[in-house]
Amino acid sequence: MASDLSNFSGQVVLVVGAASGIGRAAAHLIASRGGTVVISDLDKAGLASLQKELGLKDNQVESVNLGDQSSIQALVMSVISNHSQIDALINTAGVVGPTNTKVEDVEWAAFERTVTINLFGTVWLTQAILPYMKARQYGRIAHVASIAGKEGNPGMHAYNISKAGMIGFIKGVGKEVATEGITINALAPAVIRTPMNADTSEATLKYMLGRIPMGRVGEPEEAAEMLAFMASRACSFTTGFTFDTSGGRATY
Ligand SMILES: NC(=O)c1ccc[n+]([C@@H]2O[C@H](COP(=O)([O-])OP(=O)(O)OC[C@H]3O[C@@H](n4cnc5c(N)ncnc54)[C@H](O)[C@@H]3O)[C@@H](O)[C@H]2O)c1
Repeated sequence: MASDLSNFSGQVVLVVGAASGIGRAAAHLIASRGGTVVISDLDKAGLASLQKELGLKDNQVESVNLGDQSSIQALVMSVISNHSQIDALINTAGVVGPTNTKVEDVEWAAFERTVTINLFGTVWLTQAILPYMKARQYGRIAHVASIAGKEGNPGMHAYNISKAGMIGFIKGVGKEVATEGITINALAPAVIRTPMNADTSEATLKYMLGRIPMGRVGEPEEAAEMLAFMASRACSFTTGFTFDTSGGRATY
């Protein structure tokens, strides 16, 4: 019988941003497919409740602040010291930053915070993990970008830039590690039903929903299915690519 390439038995999968939304759904899915999931987030209470739900050991739970490079390095070192390997990284952590804010009104601090967490966090996390994947000549990296990075949402400039930057970043890294058994891809969701949208203004939400041909929001489980593929052995001939999950909004 052919081996099931979507199964994660014997694999260590680090899910950053696991406390909520898409990351939480991804952690459930990877665990259900046999992976040793390590959940990580800034939100310790969310991690504790997920640990209970999934029955994880304490060494499968790690707090991290993606806005702080030393915290990211400490996370990766801890996972390696506890589990010896990281087969796949799923990074869903992110913040929306200012919405409904015209470019003339954007302020430095809020702009910088959004880009630091979403984009620089992606860069430092990838940088910290790659040496361990290169050493084993195997790895899967899946970062969650956004439709905002492809099309741009008005009034969300810091978010747009951070997500467009992620899409550009994975393209370059994909080529750099292409011959080393490592793939790195991104996912560009449109609106997904998660707590993240609680902070998004009504006007922005209406704008985004109006552009989805399926006429509905996506569910976190639908995004998680895509991420599970990108994190699996099955994703072996696609790298530097940004997958779509937008209910038909983006057909490219
Ligand atoms: N929900 C959507 O409509 C949507 C659409 C497109 C893209 N996305 C992207 O999907 C990803 C997941 O979003 P979600 O909807 O599940 O949101 P969410 O708010 O439910 O989850 C995001 C998680 O990131 C964590 N986080 C925030 N800042 C952090 C930091 N500095 N360090 C570590 N963890 C941090 C939060 O604690 C939270 O658990 C994000 O990158 C988001 O930009 C979401």
